[in-house]
Amino acid sequence: MTFLALGLIDPLLRTLETLSYQEPTPVQKQAIPAVLAGRDLMAAAQTGTGKTAGFALPILQRLTLAGVVAPKSVRCLVLVPTRELAEQVYDSFRTYGGNLPLRSFVAYGGVAIEPQISKLRKGLDVLVATPGRLLDLYRQGMVTFESLQTLVLDEADRMLDLGFSRELNEIFEALPKQRQTLLFSATFSDAIRALAGGLLNDPLSIQVSPRNTTTKTVKQWLIPTDKKRKPELFLHLLKQRRWGQVLVFVKTRKGVDQLVKTLLDEGVAADSIHGDKQQHARLRALDRFKTAQVRVLVATDVAARGLDIDALPQVVNFDLPTVAEDYIHRIGRTGRAGAEGEAVSLVCADEVELLAAIETLTRQVIRREEEPGFEAHHRVPATGAEAAVAKVAKAAKAAEPARKKRAFTGAPGAPGARSAAARPAASIPKGAVIVTAGRGAKSTARASAKSAAKPAAQSSAKPAKPGGRGPAR
Ligand SMILES: Nc1ncnc2c1ncn2[C@@H]1O[C@H](COP(=O)(O)OP(=O)(O)OP(=O)(O)O)[C@@H](O)[C@H]1O
Ligand SMILES: [Mg+2]
Repeated sequence: MTFLALGLIDPLLRTLETLSYQEPTPVQKQAIPAVLAGRDLMAAAQTGTGKTAGFALPILQRLTLAGVVAPKSVRCLVLVPTRELAEQVYDSFRTYGGNLPLRSFVAYGGVAIEPQISKLRKGLDVLVATPGRLLDLYRQGMVTFESLQTLVLDEADRMLDLGFSRELNEIFEALPKQRQTLLFSATFSDAIRALAGGLLNDPLSIQVSPRNTTTKTVKQWLIPTDKKRKPELFLHLLKQRRWGQVLVFVKTRKGVDQLVKTLLDEGVAADSIHGDKQQHARLRALDRFKTAQVRVLVATDVAARGLDIDALPQVVNFDLPTVAEDYIHRIGRTGRAGAEGEAVSLVCADEVELLAAIETLTRQVIRREEEPGFEAHHRVPATGAEAAVAKVAKAAKAAEPARKKRAFTGAPGAPGARSAAARPAASIPKGAVIVTAGRGAKSTARASAKSAAKPAAQSSAKPAKPGGRGPAR
Protein backbone atom coordinates (compact mmCIF):
# COMPACT_ATOMS: atom_id res chain seq x y z
CA MET A 1 0.00 0.00 0.00
CA THR A 2 1.22 3.52 -0.82
CA PHE A 3 0.61 6.91 0.77
CA LEU A 4 -1.21 7.84 -2.45
CA ALA A 5 -3.68 4.98 -1.91
CA LEU A 6 -4.41 6.36 1.58
CA GLY A 7 -5.82 9.48 -0.06
CA LEU A 8 -3.12 12.03 0.80
CA ILE A 9 -2.88 15.16 -1.32
CA ASP A 10 0.00 15.97 -3.63
CA PRO A 11 1.92 18.50 -1.45
CA LEU A 12 2.13 15.90 1.34
CA LEU A 13 3.13 13.13 -1.08
CA ARG A 14 5.95 15.29 -2.40
CA THR A 15 7.24 15.88 1.13
CA LEU A 16 7.13 12.16 1.93
CA GLU A 17 9.15 11.48 -1.18
CA THR A 18 11.89 13.87 -0.06
CA LEU A 19 11.88 12.13 3.35
CA SER A 20 12.24 8.73 1.62
CA TYR A 21 9.17 7.34 3.36
CA GLN A 22 8.46 4.58 0.86
CA GLU A 23 5.34 3.11 2.38
CA PRO A 24 3.10 3.78 5.34
CA THR A 25 3.79 1.88 8.56
CA PRO A 26 0.99 -0.34 9.94
CA VAL A 27 -0.32 2.34 12.31
CA GLN A 28 -0.24 4.93 9.53
CA LYS A 29 -2.21 2.59 7.23
CA GLN A 30 -5.00 2.42 9.77
CA ALA A 31 -4.88 5.89 11.31
CA ILE A 32 -4.55 8.09 8.21
CA PRO A 33 -7.86 7.13 6.49
CA ALA A 34 -9.71 7.21 9.83
CA VAL A 35 -8.45 10.70 10.75
CA LEU A 36 -9.18 11.94 7.20
CA ALA A 37 -12.74 10.64 7.64
CA GLY A 38 -13.09 12.70 10.83
CA ARG A 39 -13.20 9.76 13.26
CA ASP A 40 -12.10 9.88 16.90
CA LEU A 41 -9.25 7.45 17.57
CA MET A 42 -7.52 5.55 20.31
CA ALA A 43 -4.38 4.27 18.60
CA ALA A 44 -1.86 1.94 20.21
CA ALA A 45 1.28 1.01 18.31
CA GLN A 46 4.81 0.17 19.39
CA THR A 47 7.50 2.76 19.95
CA GLY A 48 9.27 4.09 16.86
CA THR A 49 6.57 2.98 14.40
CA GLY A 50 5.62 6.41 13.05
CA LYS A 51 2.63 7.42 15.15
CA THR A 52 3.50 11.12 14.72
CA ALA A 53 3.01 11.02 10.94
CA GLY A 54 -0.04 8.84 11.62
CA PHE A 55 -1.82 11.87 13.07
CA ALA A 56 0.14 14.82 11.61
CA LEU A 57 -0.31 13.97 7.91
CA PRO A 58 -4.12 13.63 7.90
CA ILE A 59 -4.54 16.60 10.26
CA LEU A 60 -2.45 18.82 7.97
CA GLN A 61 -4.57 17.69 5.04
CA ARG A 62 -7.87 18.42 6.78
CA LEU A 63 -6.65 21.84 7.94
CA THR A 64 -5.58 22.67 4.37
CA LEU A 65 -8.83 21.61 2.76
CA ALA A 66 -11.27 23.36 5.11
CA GLY A 67 -11.47 26.37 7.42
CA VAL A 68 -9.45 29.48 8.21
CA VAL A 69 -7.58 30.81 11.22
CA ALA A 70 -9.09 33.55 13.39
CA PRO A 71 -6.99 35.81 15.70
CA LYS A 72 -5.91 34.14 18.97
CA SER A 73 -7.60 30.92 17.93
CA VAL A 74 -6.17 27.46 17.40
CA ARG A 75 -7.59 24.93 14.92
CA CYS A 76 -5.61 21.89 16.04
CA LEU A 77 -4.16 21.43 19.52
CA VAL A 78 -1.55 18.74 20.18
CA LEU A 79 -0.78 18.14 23.85
CA VAL A 80 2.39 16.31 24.88
CA PRO A 81 3.92 15.58 28.30
CA THR A 82 7.38 17.13 27.96
CA ARG A 83 9.02 20.21 26.49
CA GLU A 84 11.53 18.26 24.42
CA LEU A 85 8.74 16.22 22.89
CA ALA A 86 6.79 19.42 22.19
CA GLU A 87 9.75 20.75 20.18
CA GLN A 88 10.07 17.46 18.31
CA VAL A 89 6.38 17.14 17.42
CA TYR A 90 6.29 20.81 16.33
CA ASP A 91 9.31 20.09 14.15
CA SER A 92 7.50 17.09 12.62
CA PHE A 93 4.46 19.25 11.79
CA ARG A 94 6.74 21.81 10.13
CA THR A 95 8.54 19.11 8.15
CA TYR A 96 5.43 17.21 7.04
CA GLY A 97 3.60 20.46 6.27
CA GLY A 98 6.57 22.03 4.47
CA ASN A 99 4.60 22.43 1.22
CA LEU A 100 1.42 23.71 2.85
CA PRO A 101 0.38 27.29 3.72
CA LEU A 102 -0.32 26.56 7.40
CA ARG A 103 0.81 28.34 10.58
CA SER A 104 2.07 26.27 13.48
CA PHE A 105 3.92 26.98 16.71
CA VAL A 106 4.95 25.43 20.01
CA ALA A 107 4.33 26.53 23.61
CA TYR A 108 5.96 25.12 26.76
CA GLY A 109 7.23 26.42 30.07
CA GLY A 110 10.73 27.34 31.19
CA VAL A 111 11.14 29.82 28.34
CA ALA A 112 9.78 33.35 27.68
CA ILE A 113 6.02 33.47 27.14
CA GLU A 114 6.04 36.64 24.96
CA PRO A 115 7.07 35.00 21.66
CA GLN A 116 4.28 32.46 22.19
CA ILE A 117 1.75 35.25 22.84
CA SER A 118 2.88 37.12 19.79
CA LYS A 119 2.53 34.04 17.53
CA LEU A 120 -0.93 33.35 18.91
CA ARG A 121 -2.13 36.89 18.19
CA LYS A 122 -2.80 36.10 14.53
CA GLY A 123 -4.09 32.62 15.34
CA LEU A 124 -2.56 29.23 14.55
CA ASP A 125 -3.54 26.20 12.50
CA VAL A 126 -1.53 23.92 14.78
CA LEU A 127 -0.38 24.54 18.34
CA VAL A 128 1.79 21.91 20.02
CA ALA A 129 1.93 22.49 23.78
CA THR A 130 2.57 21.13 27.23
CA PRO A 131 -0.50 21.51 29.50
CA GLY A 132 0.95 23.90 32.11
CA ARG A 133 2.05 26.64 29.70
CA LEU A 134 -1.09 26.25 27.61
CA LEU A 135 -3.16 26.86 30.72
CA ASP A 136 -1.12 30.00 31.55
CA LEU A 137 -1.81 31.31 28.05
CA TYR A 138 -5.48 30.45 28.30
CA ARG A 139 -5.92 32.08 31.72
CA GLN A 140 -4.25 35.24 30.40
CA GLY A 141 -6.80 35.29 27.56
CA MET A 142 -4.11 34.83 24.91
CA VAL A 143 -5.69 31.79 23.26
CA THR A 144 -9.26 30.75 22.47
CA PHE A 145 -10.59 27.41 21.36
CA GLU A 146 -13.91 28.29 19.64
CA SER A 147 -12.64 27.16 16.26
CA LEU A 148 -10.80 24.08 17.50
CA GLN A 149 -11.38 21.13 15.15
CA THR A 150 -8.96 18.51 16.45
CA LEU A 151 -7.38 17.66 19.78
CA VAL A 152 -4.46 15.20 19.92
CA LEU A 153 -3.05 13.70 23.08
CA ASP A 154 0.31 12.23 22.14
CA GLU A 155 1.57 9.84 24.84
CA ALA A 156 -2.09 9.83 25.81
CA ASP A 157 -1.81 7.44 28.76
CA ARG A 158 0.85 9.63 30.36
CA MET A 159 -1.21 12.75 29.70
CA LEU A 160 -4.28 11.23 31.34
CA ASP A 161 -2.58 9.90 34.45
CA LEU A 162 -2.82 11.91 37.63
CA GLY A 163 0.25 14.07 37.08
CA PHE A 164 -1.57 16.16 34.50
CA SER A 165 -5.24 15.66 35.38
CA ARG A 166 -5.89 19.00 37.11
CA GLU A 167 -4.48 21.04 34.23
CA LEU A 168 -6.07 18.87 31.57
CA ASN A 169 -9.53 19.04 33.12
CA GLU A 170 -9.46 22.82 32.98
CA ILE A 171 -8.32 22.70 29.35
CA PHE A 172 -10.96 20.12 28.37
CA GLU A 173 -13.65 22.35 29.91
CA ALA A 174 -12.60 25.16 27.58
CA LEU A 175 -12.71 23.07 24.39
CA PRO A 176 -15.76 22.78 22.13
CA LYS A 177 -17.70 19.56 22.66
CA GLN A 178 -17.95 19.08 18.89
CA ARG A 179 -14.41 18.18 17.87
CA GLN A 180 -12.23 15.33 16.70
CA THR A 181 -10.14 13.74 19.48
CA LEU A 182 -7.13 11.49 18.82
CA LEU A 183 -5.20 9.53 21.43
CA PHE A 184 -1.86 7.93 20.59
CA SER A 185 0.58 5.90 22.67
CA ALA A 186 2.60 2.70 22.76
CA THR A 187 0.93 1.78 26.06
CA PHE A 188 -2.65 1.95 27.32
CA SER A 189 -3.65 0.45 30.65
CA ASP A 190 -7.25 -0.63 31.29
CA ALA A 191 -7.79 2.28 33.71
CA ILE A 192 -6.58 4.80 31.15
CA ARG A 193 -8.71 3.19 28.44
CA ALA A 194 -11.75 3.59 30.67
CA LEU A 195 -10.86 7.20 31.48
CA ALA A 196 -10.24 7.98 27.82
CA GLY A 197 -13.62 6.59 26.82
CA GLY A 198 -15.33 9.70 28.21
CA LEU A 199 -13.29 12.00 26.00
CA LEU A 200 -14.02 10.24 22.73
CA ASN A 201 -17.05 10.10 20.49
CA ASP A 202 -17.71 6.72 18.83
CA PRO A 203 -13.96 6.09 18.66
CA LEU A 204 -12.14 3.69 16.41
CA SER A 205 -9.66 1.63 18.39
CA ILE A 206 -6.44 0.77 16.59
CA GLN A 207 -4.20 -1.87 18.10
CA VAL A 208 -1.28 -2.65 15.85
CA SER A 209 0.48 -5.27 18.00
CA PRO A 210 -0.45 -7.12 21.19
CA ARG A 211 -1.00 -4.68 24.05
CA ASN A 212 1.94 -3.14 25.86
CA THR A 213 4.60 -4.99 23.93
CA THR A 214 8.23 -4.00 23.62
CA THR A 215 9.49 -3.71 20.09
CA LYS A 216 11.18 -6.78 18.63
CA THR A 217 13.95 -4.66 17.16
CA VAL A 218 15.37 -4.09 20.67
CA LYS A 219 17.50 -6.86 22.18
CA GLN A 220 16.88 -6.79 25.93
CA TRP A 221 18.78 -8.29 28.81
CA LEU A 222 19.61 -7.50 32.40
CA ILE A 223 22.67 -7.74 34.59
CA PRO A 224 22.07 -8.56 38.27
CA THR A 225 24.45 -6.59 40.47
CA ASP A 226 24.70 -4.72 43.77
CA LYS A 227 23.36 -1.19 43.96
CA LYS A 228 26.64 0.43 44.98
CA ARG A 229 28.55 -1.20 42.12
CA LYS A 230 26.33 0.17 39.36
CA PRO A 231 28.50 3.22 38.43
CA GLU A 232 31.60 1.04 38.18
CA LEU A 233 29.72 -1.61 36.18
CA PHE A 234 28.36 1.00 33.78
CA LEU A 235 31.86 2.38 33.11
CA HIS A 236 33.17 -1.16 32.66
CA LEU A 237 30.44 -1.97 30.09
CA LEU A 238 30.99 1.30 28.26
CA LYS A 239 34.68 0.47 27.80
CA GLN A 240 34.56 -3.31 27.52
CA ARG A 241 31.72 -3.45 25.01
CA ARG A 242 32.92 -0.37 23.15
CA TRP A 243 29.51 1.20 23.28
CA GLY A 244 29.02 4.22 21.05
CA GLN A 245 26.22 6.53 22.08
CA VAL A 246 24.23 5.56 25.13
CA LEU A 247 21.06 6.99 26.65
CA VAL A 248 21.03 6.14 30.35
CA PHE A 249 17.96 6.34 32.56
CA VAL A 250 18.38 7.05 36.28
CA LYS A 251 15.58 7.26 38.83
CA THR A 252 16.29 10.62 40.49
CA ARG A 253 17.65 14.00 39.45
CA LYS A 254 20.37 13.71 42.09
CA GLY A 255 21.31 10.28 40.76
CA VAL A 256 21.57 11.72 37.25
CA ASP A 257 23.96 14.46 38.42
CA GLN A 258 26.08 11.95 40.36
CA LEU A 259 26.49 9.65 37.38
CA VAL A 260 27.35 12.52 35.05
CA LYS A 261 30.03 13.67 37.49
CA THR A 262 31.51 10.16 37.67
CA LEU A 263 31.56 9.94 33.87
CA LEU A 264 33.13 13.38 33.41
CA ASP A 265 35.77 12.55 36.04
CA GLU A 266 36.62 9.48 33.96
CA GLY A 267 36.93 11.58 30.81
CA VAL A 268 33.68 10.38 29.21
CA ALA A 269 31.77 13.11 27.33
CA ALA A 270 28.43 13.16 29.16
CA ASP A 271 25.49 15.49 29.69
CA SER A 272 22.09 15.30 31.33
CA ILE A 273 18.38 16.07 31.09
CA HIS A 274 16.15 16.37 34.13
CA GLY A 275 13.48 18.61 35.58
CA ASP A 276 15.79 20.76 37.74
CA LYS A 277 17.82 22.00 34.79
CA GLN A 278 17.21 25.25 32.95
CA GLN A 279 15.28 24.65 29.76
CA HIS A 280 18.00 25.98 27.47
CA ALA A 281 20.50 23.58 29.13
CA ARG A 282 18.06 20.65 28.62
CA LEU A 283 17.62 21.43 24.94
CA ARG A 284 21.35 21.99 24.49
CA ALA A 285 22.15 18.61 26.11
CA LEU A 286 19.73 16.83 23.77
CA ASP A 287 21.10 18.68 20.78
CA ARG A 288 24.71 17.83 21.70
CA PHE A 289 23.70 14.18 22.05
CA LYS A 290 21.84 14.16 18.73
CA THR A 291 24.84 15.68 16.98
CA ALA A 292 27.20 13.16 18.66
CA GLN A 293 29.18 15.79 20.59
CA VAL A 294 28.25 13.87 23.71
CA ARG A 295 28.63 10.10 24.06
CA VAL A 296 26.43 9.50 27.10
CA LEU A 297 23.18 11.29 27.87
CA VAL A 298 21.92 10.62 31.39
CA ALA A 299 18.26 11.38 32.04
CA THR A 300 15.26 10.88 34.28
CA ASP A 301 12.00 9.62 32.79
CA VAL A 302 11.48 13.10 31.38
CA ALA A 303 13.32 11.68 28.33
CA ALA A 304 11.49 8.35 28.28
CA ARG A 305 8.58 9.29 26.05
CA GLY A 306 8.46 9.96 22.34
CA LEU A 307 11.98 11.28 21.72
CA ASP A 308 13.31 10.23 18.34
CA ILE A 309 17.11 10.18 18.35
CA ASP A 310 18.38 9.06 14.99
CA ALA A 311 20.10 5.64 14.99
CA LEU A 312 20.61 5.52 18.77
CA PRO A 313 22.13 2.05 19.37
CA GLN A 314 22.00 1.66 23.16
CA VAL A 315 19.71 2.34 26.10
CA VAL A 316 20.72 1.52 29.67
CA ASN A 317 18.39 1.36 32.65
CA PHE A 318 20.82 2.28 35.40
CA ASP A 319 17.77 2.06 37.69
CA LEU A 320 14.53 0.36 36.76
CA PRO A 321 11.55 2.68 36.30
CA THR A 322 8.98 2.79 39.10
CA VAL A 323 6.11 2.68 36.59
CA ALA A 324 6.28 -0.48 34.47
CA GLU A 325 4.96 1.22 31.29
CA ASP A 326 7.97 3.53 31.32
CA TYR A 327 10.23 0.53 30.67
CA ILE A 328 8.54 0.08 27.28
CA HIS A 329 8.97 3.76 26.44
CA ARG A 330 12.56 4.01 27.72
CA ILE A 331 13.87 1.07 25.70
CA GLY A 332 11.87 2.30 22.71
CA ARG A 333 14.31 5.20 22.28
CA THR A 334 16.43 2.65 20.41
CA GLY A 335 15.40 0.18 17.69
CA ARG A 336 13.22 2.77 15.90
CA ALA A 337 11.93 2.86 12.33
CA GLY A 338 13.07 -0.73 11.77
CA ALA A 339 16.64 -0.19 13.08
CA GLU A 340 18.19 -2.61 15.57
CA GLY A 341 18.97 -1.60 19.16
CA GLU A 342 20.02 -2.92 22.56
CA ALA A 343 18.64 -2.23 26.03
CA VAL A 344 20.34 -3.43 29.17
CA SER A 345 19.08 -3.00 32.73
CA LEU A 346 21.33 -3.03 35.79
CA VAL A 347 19.16 -4.64 38.44
CA CYS A 348 19.82 -4.88 42.19
CA ALA A 349 18.00 -6.93 44.83
CA ASP A 350 15.62 -4.22 45.99
CA GLU A 351 14.37 -3.67 42.43
CA VAL A 352 12.97 -7.18 42.05
CA GLU A 353 9.36 -6.06 42.47
CA LEU A 354 9.79 -3.46 39.75
CA LEU A 355 11.31 -6.13 37.53
CA ALA A 356 8.41 -8.49 38.18
CA ALA A 357 5.90 -5.76 37.31
CA ILE A 358 7.74 -4.99 34.05
CA GLU A 359 7.88 -8.67 33.10
CA THR A 360 4.18 -9.07 33.82
CA LEU A 361 3.21 -6.02 31.80
CA THR A 362 5.37 -6.99 28.83
CA ARG A 363 4.61 -10.73 29.16
CA GLN A 364 8.24 -11.83 29.03
CA VAL A 365 11.05 -12.86 31.32
CA ILE A 366 14.05 -10.66 30.63
CA ARG A 367 17.21 -12.68 30.00
CA ARG A 368 19.80 -12.46 32.80
CA GLU A 369 23.51 -12.30 32.15
CA GLU A 370 26.02 -12.06 34.99
CA GLU A 371 28.97 -9.77 34.33
CA PRO A 372 32.11 -11.48 35.68
CA GLY A 373 33.52 -9.48 38.59
CA PHE A 374 30.21 -7.68 39.21
CA GLU A 375 28.04 -10.54 40.50
CA ALA A 376 25.42 -9.52 43.06
CA HIS A 377 26.23 -10.33 46.68
CA HIS A 378 22.66 -9.43 47.56
CA ARG A 379 20.98 -11.99 45.30
CA VAL A 380 18.35 -10.68 42.91
CA PRO A 381 15.51 -13.19 43.43
CA ALA A 382 14.29 -15.11 40.39
CA THR A 383 11.19 -13.83 38.65
CA GLY A 384 8.65 -15.28 36.21
CA ALA A 385 8.39 -18.96 35.32
CA GLU A 386 11.80 -19.77 36.79
CA ALA A 387 10.67 -18.45 40.14
CA ALA A 388 7.40 -20.36 39.88
CA VAL A 389 9.23 -23.61 39.22
CA ALA A 390 11.57 -22.97 42.15
CA LYS A 391 8.63 -22.23 44.42
CA VAL A 392 6.76 -25.32 43.28
CA ALA A 393 9.86 -27.47 43.80
CA LYS A 394 10.23 -26.07 47.32
CA ALA A 395 6.58 -26.80 48.08
CA ALA A 396 6.94 -30.31 46.67
CA LYS A 397 9.99 -30.93 48.84
CA ALA A 398 8.11 -29.75 51.91
CA ALA A 399 5.29 -32.20 51.10
CA GLU A 400 7.76 -35.07 50.51
CA PRO A 401 7.34 -37.12 53.77
CA ALA A 402 3.57 -37.28 53.42
CA ARG A 403 3.82 -38.38 49.82
CA LYS A 404 6.38 -41.12 50.52
CA LYS A 405 3.92 -42.91 52.73
CA ARG A 406 1.50 -43.58 49.85
CA ALA A 407 2.33 -45.70 46.82
CA PHE A 408 2.05 -44.18 43.34
CA THR A 409 -0.39 -46.16 41.23
CA GLY A 410 0.22 -44.23 38.01
CA ALA A 411 -3.35 -43.00 37.61
CA PRO A 412 -3.95 -39.26 37.27
CA GLY A 413 -5.09 -37.90 40.59
CA ALA A 414 -3.83 -41.00 42.35
CA PRO A 415 -1.59 -40.57 45.36
CA GLY A 416 1.86 -39.51 44.28
CA ALA A 417 0.76 -38.17 40.89
CA ARG A 418 1.93 -34.59 40.31
CA SER A 419 -0.74 -32.22 41.46
CA ALA A 420 -1.81 -29.31 39.28
CA ALA A 421 0.06 -27.03 41.62
CA ALA A 422 3.24 -29.01 41.11
CA ARG A 423 3.17 -28.64 37.34
CA PRO A 424 5.79 -26.11 36.28
CA ALA A 425 5.45 -22.98 34.16
CA ALA A 426 2.76 -24.23 31.77
CA SER A 427 0.12 -24.28 34.49
CA ILE A 428 0.79 -20.77 35.78
CA PRO A 429 -2.21 -18.60 35.07
CA LYS A 430 -1.58 -15.99 32.39
CA GLY A 431 -0.47 -12.72 33.86
CA ALA A 432 0.49 -14.17 37.23
CA VAL A 433 3.89 -13.33 38.59
CA ILE A 434 5.53 -15.26 41.33
CA VAL A 435 8.72 -14.07 42.88
CA THR A 436 10.62 -16.25 45.26
CA ALA A 437 11.25 -14.32 48.41
CA GLY A 438 14.95 -13.99 49.02
CA ARG A 439 17.23 -11.68 50.88
CA GLY A 440 16.08 -8.11 50.45
CA ALA A 441 12.69 -9.13 49.05
CA LYS A 442 10.21 -9.38 51.87
CA SER A 443 6.75 -10.65 50.88
CA THR A 444 7.75 -10.22 47.29
CA ALA A 445 5.30 -12.71 45.87
CA ARG A 446 2.35 -10.88 47.38
CA ALA A 447 3.65 -7.44 46.47
CA SER A 448 4.43 -8.30 42.91
CA ALA A 449 1.12 -10.08 42.46
CA LYS A 450 -0.48 -6.87 43.67
CA SER A 451 1.46 -4.76 41.21
CA ALA A 452 0.87 -7.36 38.50
CA ALA A 453 -2.84 -7.18 39.07
CA LYS A 454 -2.92 -3.40 38.94
CA PRO A 455 -0.33 -1.97 36.57
CA ALA A 456 -3.01 0.48 35.49
CA ALA A 457 -3.71 1.76 38.94
CA GLN A 458 0.01 1.99 39.51
CA SER A 459 0.41 4.52 36.75
CA SER A 460 -2.87 6.30 37.17
CA ALA A 461 -2.79 6.69 40.90
CA LYS A 462 0.67 8.18 41.18
CA PRO A 463 0.86 11.79 42.21
CA ALA A 464 3.42 14.07 40.58
CA LYS A 465 6.78 13.36 42.12
CA PRO A 466 10.42 14.23 41.65
CA GLY A 467 12.40 12.47 38.96
CA GLY A 468 10.74 13.96 35.93
CA ARG A 469 7.21 12.58 36.20
CA GLY A 470 5.54 15.78 37.29
CA PRO A 471 3.87 18.05 34.78
CA ALA A 472 6.41 19.61 32.41
CA ARG A 473 5.61 23.27 32.09
N1 LIG B 1 6.46 5.57 6.72
C1 LIG B 1 7.66 5.76 7.21
N2 LIG B 1 8.77 5.32 6.54
C2 LIG B 1 9.99 5.51 7.05
N3 LIG B 1 10.27 6.14 8.23
C3 LIG B 1 9.22 6.58 8.92
C4 LIG B 1 7.87 6.43 8.47
N4 LIG B 1 7.05 7.00 9.38
C5 LIG B 1 7.83 7.48 10.36
N5 LIG B 1 9.13 7.24 10.10
C6 LIG B 1 10.29 7.58 10.98
O1 LIG B 1 10.22 6.71 12.09
C7 LIG B 1 10.76 7.34 13.25
C8 LIG B 1 9.84 7.14 14.44
O2 LIG B 1 8.64 7.87 14.24
P1 LIG B 1 7.80 8.46 15.46
O3 LIG B 1 8.67 9.30 16.32
O4 LIG B 1 6.58 9.06 14.89
O5 LIG B 1 7.45 7.11 16.25
P2 LIG B 1 6.36 6.86 17.40
O6 LIG B 1 5.55 5.72 16.96
O7 LIG B 1 5.67 8.13 17.69
O8 LIG B 1 7.27 6.40 18.62
P3 LIG B 1 7.11 6.68 20.21
O9 LIG B 1 6.10 5.70 20.72
O10 LIG B 1 8.47 6.42 20.75
O11 LIG B 1 6.68 8.09 20.36
C9 LIG B 1 10.97 8.81 12.89
O12 LIG B 1 12.35 9.02 12.70
C10 LIG B 1 10.23 8.97 11.59
O13 LIG B 1 10.86 9.91 10.75
MG1 LIG C 1 5.60 9.38 19.34
